[in-house]
Formats: sequence, C-alpha cells, structure tokens
Amino acid sequence: MSGTFTKAMARNVFYGGTVFFFLLFLALTLDTTKALPKTDNRHNITADVAAGKHIWETRNCLGCHTLLGEGAYYAPELGNVYKRRGPDFIKAWMMAQPTGTPGRRQMPNFHLSDEELDQLIAFLKYASEINTQNWPPNIEG
Ligand code: HEC
Repeated sequence: MSGTFTKAMARNVFYGGTVFFFLLFLALTLDTTKALPKTDNRHNITADVAAGKHIWETRNCLGCHTLLGEGAYYAPELGNVYKRRGPDFIKAWMMAQPTGTPGRRQMPNFHLSDEELDQLIAFLKYASEINTQNWPPNIEG
C-alpha cells in the first residue's frame, strides 16, 4: 500500500532526525570552541582597565548607554566609542557635561579626576578591541 505512513517510517524519521541534529550540534560546538580562543583579549586587562570597569559599574553608565548592545537605549552605544571618537574627545566630553543644549538629551557630570578619566578610557579602549564579530550592527546602537 503506497502512500501509507507506517510506524516503521515514523521511527526512522525520528531516529534519523535525532542522529542528524545531534551530529550538527557536535559540529557547531566544535566550531565554537575552535573560534572562541581567537576572540579572547583577556591578556589586555591591565590594572587601569579593571579600575575603569569599576568606575563604569559604580556610575551606572549602563543605565543610559549600551555596551556591546547590552544596556539602556537612552544614549549612544559605547563599546566602540573609543574607535569612533578617540581618547581626547571622550575626556573632553566627560568634563563638559551637562551640555545644556536645548532639545538634546542630557548626561550628568560625574566629576571624575584626571586619573579616573584615564582609567575609564582604558576600559573603553579595551571594550573597543573585543572581537564582537561586528556586533552591534548599528555602530551608534
Ligand atoms: C542619565 C543618562 C546618562 C548616564 C548615566 C551616562 N550618560 Fe553618557 N550620554 C548620555 C546622553 C543622553 C548622551 C548623548 C548626548 C548628546 O548627544 O547630546 C551621552 C553621550 C556620551 C558619550 C558620547 C558618545 C558619542 O557617541 O559621542 C560618552 C563618551 C558618554 N556618554 C560616556 C558616558 C560614561 C562613561 C558614563 C558613565 C560614567 C555615562 N556616559 C553615563 C546620557 C548618559
């Protein structure tokens, strides 16, 4: 009887599908474990980067900004701001807040010392060097 879907056929589809997707899962897992070490830049973590991360966390920059796409969407993405703007701009920007420009969203002044600004910039430089495989796709978030 052609056209009948037998129990044996259903079993084969089940086992065949299970084996196929299990092998696919193994292949993708292997691919990921081979690709990940190439994106590792942990050796770039200096004392300044760690201190900058602490400033980043305690001032809640993520409350308004995103870092690598993660965070709040009130203000621009900062994971790549070091590459987009450079250290001098970032320093001047932090000191010039709030701008008071009518119609623009405002950012508070965090009154960071020169040393703290350098640490924050070291952290943003580190973040900009993470290989995110071009994420987020929109560079200003
Ligand atoms: C209350 C919200 C808020 C917080 C908190 C905040 N920012 Fe901002 N930030 C903004 C806004 C809004 C802008 C964009 C203003 C504009 O374009 O006029 C901005 C812009 C920036 C820029 C310039 C971005 C660009 O693409 O030119 C940098 C750098 C920056 N913020 C760093 C920080 C850092 C570092 C922290 C934490 C220490 C922080 N911000 C915390 C609101 C915030």
